[in-house]
Amino acid sequence: MGLKQVTTVELLKKAGKLRVVVGTEPVLLGYHENQVYAISDRCPHMKASLFEGSYQDGVITCPKHHAQIDIKTGQIQEKAKLLFIKVPTKKAKTYQVTIKENKVYIEV
Ligand code: FES
Repeated sequence: MGLKQVTTVELLKKAGKLRVVVGTEPVLLGYHENQVYAISDRCPHMKASLFEGSYQDGVITCPKHHAQIDIKTGQIQEKAKLLFIKVPTKKAKTYQVTIKENKVYIEV
């Protein structure tokens, strides 16, 4: 599919995080330390929208079972919890981000 423009750096910087849909794929964009990152907006645990979760210091916390995901790498920092049991949680899918003239593109 190639590069797709999804927003501008200013808009994302102001919002902190944004949810966009590219084709059929929901993508979560996050702004952290002057960089833009993109991961799937489907939680790798049970597909909840990560956008609905809290976002702080480059880490998104899933609203469902509180898995914590590093938006830079998609790596799990804290596994999902069902009751008090931590369950294995796969890494989130990441997307390549390109910035051109303050516009944000992702590779899909
Ligand atoms: S759906 Fe995200 S932690 Fe369970």
